[in-house]
Amino acid sequence: MLMTAMFLQSILTLLSIANLVLTESSAGNGLGPTAYTISGTFPTSIYESYYNDPTATTAQPQPVITDPVTHEVYPYWLTDPETIPGNDTWEPHLLPPVASPSQLLETAYAQILSIVANPVFGNDTCTRCQAALEIAKFLALTAPQQVPALAVRLCEHFEASSDCGSQYGEYTLGPTVAQVAAYADTGGYDGQMICSVFASLCPLAPTSPLNLTGWFAKPKPDPLPPPRQATGQRLKVLHLSDFHIDPRYAISAEANCSTSLCCRYNNYGEGGPDHIAFPAPRYGAFLCDTPYPLAVGALQAIPVLAGTEDTGFNFTLYTGDLVSHDPFNELSAEYTLYTETMVFDLIKRLVKTGPVYAVQGNHDTYMTAQNAPYNLGGEMGEQFNWNYDHLAALWELEDWISPETAQQARTHYAAYTVQRQDGLRIISINTDFWYTQNAYNYINLASSDNSGMMRFLTDELQDAEDAGDRVWIIGHVPSGYSKTDPLQNPTNLFYQIVDRFSPHVIAGIFWGHTHEDQLNIFYANNATVMNTNTAQAVAWIGPSVTPLTNYNSGFRVYEVDSGTFEVLDSYTWFADVNSFPELDGQTEFGPTYEFEYSARTTYGPNVPGWGPDDPLNATWWHLVTEAMESDSSLVETFYSYASKGSIRIAPCTGECIPATICSIRSASASLLFQNCL
Ligand SMILES: *[C@@H]1O[C@H](CO)[C@@H](O)[C@H](O)[C@H]1NC(C)=O
Ligand SMILES: *[C@@H]1O[C@H](CO)[C@@H](O)[C@H](O)[C@H]1NC(C)=O
Ligand SMILES: *[C@@H]1O[C@H](CO)[C@@H](O)[C@H](O)[C@H]1NC(C)=O
Ligand SMILES: *[C@@H]1O[C@H](CO)[C@@H](O)[C@H](O)[C@H]1NC(C)=O
Ligand SMILES: *[C@@H]1O[C@H](CO)[C@@H](O)[C@H](O)[C@H]1NC(C)=O
Ligand SMILES: *[C@@H]1O[C@H](CO)[C@@H](O)[C@H](O)[C@H]1NC(C)=O
Ligand SMILES: *[C@@H]1O[C@H](CO)[C@@H](O)[C@H](O)[C@H]1NC(C)=O
Repeated sequence: MLMTAMFLQSILTLLSIANLVLTESSAGNGLGPTAYTISGTFPTSIYESYYNDPTATTAQPQPVITDPVTHEVYPYWLTDPETIPGNDTWEPHLLPPVASPSQLLETAYAQILSIVANPVFGNDTCTRCQAALEIAKFLALTAPQQVPALAVRLCEHFEASSDCGSQYGEYTLGPTVAQVAAYADTGGYDGQMICSVFASLCPLAPTSPLNLTGWFAKPKPDPLPPPRQATGQRLKVLHLSDFHIDPRYAISAEANCSTSLCCRYNNYGEGGPDHIAFPAPRYGAFLCDTPYPLAVGALQAIPVLAGTEDTGFNFTLYTGDLVSHDPFNELSAEYTLYTETMVFDLIKRLVKTGPVYAVQGNHDTYMTAQNAPYNLGGEMGEQFNWNYDHLAALWELEDWISPETAQQARTHYAAYTVQRQDGLRIISINTDFWYTQNAYNYINLASSDNSGMMRFLTDELQDAEDAGDRVWIIGHVPSGYSKTDPLQNPTNLFYQIVDRFSPHVIAGIFWGHTHEDQLNIFYANNATVMNTNTAQAVAWIGPSVTPLTNYNSGFRVYEVDSGTFEVLDSYTWFADVNSFPELDGQTEFGPTYEFEYSARTTYGPNVPGWGPDDPLNATWWHLVTEAMESDSSLVETFYSYASKGSIRIAPCTGECIPATICSIRSASASLLFQNCL
């Protein structure tokens, strides 16, 4: 503005001078002549010397100027019209010095606090949070070793934990935070989701649009191939989940502690270590993980109760979580490997399981829930291979999967497909890639399948369809049901994959993780219409052996038709954890596992027209939810069975009734957020 104004002013001045010159001045007014014509040659005497011929008419004179201060003789090229520099490259401008790593840390911390305090952001906590993440990103890229310290200081500043050092320091999540800050799109979708999920400072980002063009190799067959014929012969399949064995369980330590995992010497109640209010019983307690005697007892009870002492099971599913719920700082890769080794060995030795098809749960890794996508490349992409290698080798050694399948697991995040001789394929997937607590999921989350896990699943399902085989998908974290655990984008994609391959290929889906006995129904067309015609697939969420948190201990057996691989019935057993304290002080008997319910017997009377050999498929379960809508006592029953009848869980009433039905019908996080309270 200023320059323009000055320029205009000079033009105006020039114009008025010209005007003056043109105006005839009246003679005799004391001025000189009215006109003066200057000489046609440059007055060369003005300067001592010139770079060119000052009298030439083709170029203006270029006098040689000497600076009286510096005594520099200014060179010709400086003013030569032929050599005007494109850039002043010979006089460098100052840049600030490179900051040391510790200065970077101090500056990052101070700048984040400035953003937090700056009133210009008003109530826009989301913008504040993403701006702060940008600072963390550049610290992660320039001085990654300082990120744990930044995370700890911010945690302390915001009082986010009572032990920030143990949680976010260099020995725990700090390095993970640095990796994610370095690689995530912190200013975009990734950053918004981080700020939403971990700090509640941003609204949940919407599900990203899915471009399924080219995702499926072939369109869904229309008409569907004829269904496989039932044989009438029943397989017995054991479903175990969430052992969470606690090898550090301390009998008579505080079982009602106020911090972290109870039944541990290092965790007390409000009375401190000298005032144990509730001494940990020998067989376990509601706020504790599974002590050895309970784990062994459950495994001893299974064959007797299921009637498989002689025959054994046709096969067994283990839907994840072997390791105890220790805080990050008490865990290690070695502790994880120890637990994997000992639990699988116990299962193998105590139960005639048939082949056990297992998955990696979120606790069966270190740090808990963390799994990095291979596409980070190099060391970063391979940082969890130690675990995939170990799990694959254990499963192979136990003779549960072939060497070829083990090799597939090693290179697919412990995921694999078993092609059984009987026409059933088991596809085991690593669901940490849709779990909210896996920090690596916030790298390129908008892509919906950054890890490639859904690509793997889709290709394996296509293979099965081409071969006319049926498939059971097994994993750990359910794709829906609870709003806190699954991420929208990958589970929205999973939902479309299930639609593409149901009901003709997918005969069952099995999860664990919640410790509760629950169920999810998948519908056609992204659940835009939910009825008996659109219900296509069912996910069975198996009960946990661990009582944590406030549940009874349990396990499940399915009866399955050996031709269709449809579930014909499910039987669940439980042990009442509330009775465990009474068992201490004697050795005559331990806990009792008892029959809890059969799904067919419990809900079947509400589904008229179902023959005794018709499967408990998605249609049946949808009819059960319709019965629930008109008879809320069925929801109360479902909810009570979810906790395996724990006296610690309040009955389902009021809003819990429609919320439970909605959860059952919402098998992706996107549907949950869209449809449920
Ligand atoms: C001046 O230098 C900059 C930076 O190197 C370059 O991008 C630009 O093209 C240069 N300008 C000219 C006219 O040479
Ligand atoms: C910020 O939130 C407070 C409390 O909800 C509200 O009173 C205030 O008007 C909001 N300020 C702005 C700028 O939106
Ligand atoms: C969707 O993906 C296909 C195949 O990758 C691509 O050709 C197409 O341009 C994409 N469409 C949109 C809208 O991004
Ligand atoms: C556990 O401790 C809490 C207080 O920390 C108390 O309210 C509760 O009654 C205790 N429960 C049992 C079973 O002792
Ligand atoms: C399943 O188990 C039953 C009973 O043990 C046995 O007769 C049958 O051969 C088994 N079927 C398969 C496919 O393993
Ligand atoms: C469930 O089984 C019933 C009875 O056999 C059948 O009519 C229905 O089509 C099945 N539903 C699905 C989704 O497979
Ligand atoms: C499925 O529905 C959910 C909830 O409305 C939505 O967020 C998601 O984008 C839908 N998915 C597809 C593939 O249309």
